[in-house]
Amino acid sequence: MIKGKVAKVSGPLVIANNMSGVQMFEIVRVGEKELFGEVIETKGDLASIQVYEETEGLKVGEEVISTGNPLSVELGPGIMGGIYDGIQRPLKALRDMQGDFISRGISVSALDKNKKWLFQVIAKQGDQLASGDFLGFVQETLLVKHYIMVPPGLSGKLLEIKEGEFTISENIAILKDSDGIEHNISMMQKYPVRIGRPFTDKLQPDEPLITGQRVFDSMFPIFKGGTACIPGPFGSGKTVMQHQLARWSDADIIIYVGCGERGNEMTEVLIDFPELKDPRSGRPLMERTVLIANTSNMPVAAREASVFTGIAIAEYFRDMGYNVAMMADSTSRWAEAMREVSGRLEEMPGEEGYPAYLGSRVASFYERAGKVKTVGNPGRTASLSVIGAVSPPGGDLSDPVVQATLREVRVFWGLDSRLAFARHFPSINWLISYSLYSHEFEKYFEKGELKSFNNIRKWTLKVLEEEAELQEIVRLVGMDALSPNDRLTLEVARSIREDFLQQNSYHEIDTYTSLNKQFLMLKVISTYEETARLAVQKEVEIEAILALPLKESISRMKEIKETELEKLENLAVKVKELITGLVGGRA
Ligand SMILES: Nc1ncnc2c1ncn2[C@@H]1O[C@H](COP(=O)(O)OP(=O)(O)O)[C@@H](O)[C@H]1O
Ligand SMILES: [Mg+2]
Repeated sequence: MIKGKVAKVSGPLVIANNMSGVQMFEIVRVGEKELFGEVIETKGDLASIQVYEETEGLKVGEEVISTGNPLSVELGPGIMGGIYDGIQRPLKALRDMQGDFISRGISVSALDKNKKWLFQVIAKQGDQLASGDFLGFVQETLLVKHYIMVPPGLSGKLLEIKEGEFTISENIAILKDSDGIEHNISMMQKYPVRIGRPFTDKLQPDEPLITGQRVFDSMFPIFKGGTACIPGPFGSGKTVMQHQLARWSDADIIIYVGCGERGNEMTEVLIDFPELKDPRSGRPLMERTVLIANTSNMPVAAREASVFTGIAIAEYFRDMGYNVAMMADSTSRWAEAMREVSGRLEEMPGEEGYPAYLGSRVASFYERAGKVKTVGNPGRTASLSVIGAVSPPGGDLSDPVVQATLREVRVFWGLDSRLAFARHFPSINWLISYSLYSHEFEKYFEKGELKSFNNIRKWTLKVLEEEAELQEIVRLVGMDALSPNDRLTLEVARSIREDFLQQNSYHEIDTYTSLNKQFLMLKVISTYEETARLAVQKEVEIEAILALPLKESISRMKEIKETELEKLENLAVKVKELITGLVGGRA
C-alpha cells in the first residue's frame, strides 16, 4: 500500500506527493474523509488525482492511500434495475443511509451482498471451461436471465459446481487451472471500467435496431451494434429522444447514463424511468434497465467515470449474448469534465480549451460498441449499440465535442432549433442527418418481406431534397414560377414532413410505430404522388387534386392502431380511386 500526502487541491484535482509506485488509473482514497479518486497522471513521486467527490475542506498534508485497484464495476445478480451514481454507488442505498445529501467517502457496495439468488447450473463437474463459458444462470428479473460466466482471464477444469440459493459472494464453483491452482468462483465479478471486455470477433451489424421512431427507422436507421449521435441545442429534444430510444428500441437490455444537463433533469429520469413499462411484456422497464445518474450537483469528475461505468456494465450483458443499447445524455457534460480537469492539470489546451486527447477519449468510448461473437461457450452473437447526445453551445455543430463524436459514430441525427421552435418534433433535420448503415439497410430489406422499403426510403429522401431546392426557387421568384409538377412535389413533401416525420412522443399510439406501419404510411403518401403525377400528366388541374378530401385522413394515419393496419391499405386504395376519379371526370 502506498501512502502519500495531499500537496495541492484544485477543485476536483488533487496533487499528492510521496506516491511513487502508484499505477495510472488506480483508485486512491484521499484525505481524512477517504474521498474516491483516480490517478490520472504520475510524475516522479507526484500523482495527479481526479477526485469523484466534493473536495471542499480537504487540506494539504492529509493522507492519500492507494487501493491497488483500477476503477472497477461490480457485476452480478442484483445489478438490473440498479440506479447508480458515476462510480456505481447505489443512489437509493446512499440516500437511505443519510438523506438527500450524500456525505463523502462513503463506501457502499454496488450490489446487495446479503440477498440470496437461486443459481441454476448449466456447466457440469469435470467440464473443461474457459472465460466467458456459462456456469449457470439466475432468473434475475422476469425479463432478464442473468448468466453467470467464467470471469475473464480464468480457465480450467470444473472441480465442483453447486445449484441452490446463494449470495453473490458465496462460492458456487471451483475451477482448477492448468497450473493446478484452484479458483473459487462466486456470482460476482469485478471489472475495470476503462478496459473493453474481450470478444472473439467483431461482426458487421446486419439487423436494424428498431426504435419505433419513424425518422430514425425509415430515414436514418441505426443497426444493432451501431453508433449514433444526437447533437442539438438546449430544448431541441435530445432527452425526449433518448427516453424514447430507451423505452421502445428492440434491445434486450438498456443502460442509460444521464449526466445532468439541468438541475431537475436527472430527477425527472429518476422519477420517470421507474414508471415506464416494457412495451413487449408490460412489466416495469427497470427490470431490464440500469440507470447511471449524475445530477448536476455531483462533482464534474464523476461524469467522466459514469460513461465508462455504463459501458462496462453494458459489455457484461453483451457477453451473455444480449442485444444491449446504451444511451448517454449528454456527452458534452462528460467532455466538459475532461476540460476542467485538463485545465487544472495545466495541460496544453486544444480547441475551445478541450484537452488534445478529447478525440481519442471519445473514440475509446464509442469503439466499444459493436456486434460481436462473444467469448465463451455456447457460442453467441450479441451487440452493444451506443447513442450519445451532444449539447454544443448554441447548437453549433463545429463544436469540438460534436466533431470528435462525428468522427466515431455512423449515424448522425441532427436536431434543429428552428424545427423545435416550429413544434416539428422530433426536430431532426432531414437535410443534414445521415446514416452510414444505408447499405446494410438495403441488404436487410432485400431479403425480407418489405422489399420495397428500400425504394420507398430513397423516394422519401429524394422528395425532401427536391422540396429544399424548390423552396429556394420560391424564395427567389415566387410560387408562380412553379409548374404543376413542382407544386405537387411541395405538397407531397409537406405530407412526408407533417404526416410521417412528425411524431408525438406523448401520444398513446403515435409514440411508437412498427416498421410495417411505417412502410404502409409511406406507401399511402407515395401512392398519392404516383397517381397525382399521372393525373397531372393527363392535364388534371393541380388545384383539383389538392382540393380532394384526403388530407384529413392522411394526416390521421398516425392514430391508426397497430392492430388495424388494413386501414392504411384501404386508405391507399381510396387515394388512388379519388385521384383517378378526377381523370375519369375529364374524359
Ligand atoms: N418527439 C417529441 N414529441 C413531443 N414533444 C417533444 C418531442 N421532442 C421534444 N419535445 C418537446 O421539447 C421539449 C424539450 O425537449 P428536451 O428533450 O428536454 O430537450 P433537450 O434535451 O435537447 O434540451 C420537451 O419538453 C417537449 O415538450
Ligand atoms: Mg436534455
